[in-house]
Amino acid sequence: MVSDKSNTYYLRWTRGERIQHWVLVVSFFMLVLTGFALKYPESWWTWVFSATGSFDLRGLLHRIAATVYTLLSLYHVGYLLFSTRGRAQFQALKLRKRDFLDLRNQMLYNLGKRPAPPKYDHYAYWEKLEYWALVWGTLIMVITGMLLWFENISLRLFPLWVLDVATVIHFYEAVLATAAIVVWHFYFVLFNPAVYPANMSMFYGYITAREMQEEHAAELERMKQHLDQDETEEVLLTGRLEV
Ligand code: HEM
Repeated sequence: MVSDKSNTYYLRWTRGERIQHWVLVVSFFMLVLTGFALKYPESWWTWVFSATGSFDLRGLLHRIAATVYTLLSLYHVGYLLFSTRGRAQFQALKLRKRDFLDLRNQMLYNLGKRPAPPKYDHYAYWEKLEYWALVWGTLIMVITGMLLWFENISLRLFPLWVLDVATVIHFYEAVLATAAIVVWHFYFVLFNPAVYPANMSMFYGYITAREMQEEHAAELERMKQHLDQDETEEVLLTGRLEV
């Protein structure tokens, strides 16, 4: 095990990626808060909105947050397509056969049937699944949300039942997305004893040598092998920092 006192750090997020993440955090929770306040207007916790005397406030804030969230998603697609690092991220995020083997081996380890957990690369299978679940959820929320927002246009193009179905999908996907973030994502980045009270890379962009060894051992091994070579995809993604 590598000591946490080592002065080597490994890059996980550039400043631009951290900004994308924080814009996502703020806009997503604004959508959750205002969305459920729209659905349950009589709930005690909606006093924040009622206190202003304007019922429309939650609808307005939901649309503002939805605009920020949608623009961020479009920006992110552009980042993945048109920047060198974004393209490397996209390659690293692709699901591969190895991820399914890692999932199986991690389960076997959890059940005590393997002596050691799998060694993970830049993204472990659960990080990739979380990312693609977010992409899928965003597509659903943006499409159904737009149908609801621009109902005059929607009703000119589709029968009424399409809007009813969109409302149901928008609501249940909202429940699923909120539960996935609060239970799944928060466990891995906040409550997991290995990172508690938080995975600090979301603030600073770097992880420690110990975290790198424990969570991305396969990538670390490759980095060591490629140290003297030209910049490889993984060095580009992970860059080392000596302090
Ligand atoms: C991704 C996170 C989101 C969550 C958690 C969320 C949640 C919700 C919820 C719970 C409702 C109430 C549904 C109902 O009454 O059955 C709602 C309504 C709505 N949402 Fe979202 N939503 C999200 C994203 C979006 C996006 C991206 C858009 C638009 C692009 C959008 C547009 C709307 C609109 C227009 C309504 C109806 C508002 C009204 O009745 O005034 N939502 N949302």
